[in-house]
Amino acid sequence: MSILREWKALYHIALSPIRGATHAERLESFYQGQADAYDQFRKHLLKGREEMYSALPLEPGNVMMELGAGTGHNLTFLGDRVQIPQKIHLVDLSRSLLDVANKRIESNGWKHVEAHEADATTFVPPEGKVDVVTFSYSLTMIPDWFAAIDHAYSLLKPGGVIGVVDFYVARKYPDAPNKKHGWFTRSFWPVWFNLDNVYPTADHMPYLRRKFETIHFEECKAWMRYLPGLRVPYYIFIGRKPSS
Ligand SMILES: C[S@@+](CC[C@H](N)C(=O)[O-])C[C@H]1O[C@@H](n2cnc3c(N)ncnc32)[C@H](O)[C@@H]1O
Repeated sequence: MSILREWKALYHIALSPIRGATHAERLESFYQGQADAYDQFRKHLLKGREEMYSALPLEPGNVMMELGAGTGHNLTFLGDRVQIPQKIHLVDLSRSLLDVANKRIESNGWKHVEAHEADATTFVPPEGKVDVVTFSYSLTMIPDWFAAIDHAYSLLKPGGVIGVVDFYVARKYPDAPNKKHGWFTRSFWPVWFNLDNVYPTADHMPYLRRKFETIHFEECKAWMRYLPGLRVPYYIFIGRKPSS
């Protein structure tokens, strides 16, 4: 059963055409056939999430928000710490993935977690401001990622925390001590991911580091299942909005 699910997800990632006139329609077209297989398949693909969520500082009373939250699976990486925030908002544009998130919320009895079908670049939670924002492999899928980061910045309270984990490629001449990537890595991954409307760039990470004070930063590479011999670069960034 699990292998069947994995192949179903692979079919939707590699072969099924993505249709739709709007960003939300294209996301739903991509995800609706693989929502039930999403968590299992992404376990092998989206590395660094457990590390990022484990390192995320959380305080009692916090309002937390995950933008592009998908199925809400990342909350499981928090373990018992999921109970620390007073409220957690999960925001996504894919109805099918949110249906999985809502089942997870219900089965875990997470009364303080709420899923919203909304755009990460405009969603404002009822509390107005938040203490913690996360983007896990969602910035590379948000066409106007500048708007998403700027929006998160404006919703964060001074001193609030942002956690990001995502694919990227290095600039041709990165500032030291950032890692360098060879020509193949810088050229291949953007073309490969663009097929699924995923856009790894050299700019997210420098933009995040310019706007936020760095708490934790790592540049890593992960072996890719089904692409033997290839390692994809990803980064983990945890930052703080300056207090003044
Ligand atoms: C690769 S998935 C990652 C999901 C989840 N964060 C995880 O780590 O498994 C990217 C998610 O971003 C969502 N997304 C893309 N653009 C969005 C937008 N403008 N607003 C809200 N969600 C968006 C997609 O629907 C998808 O669920």
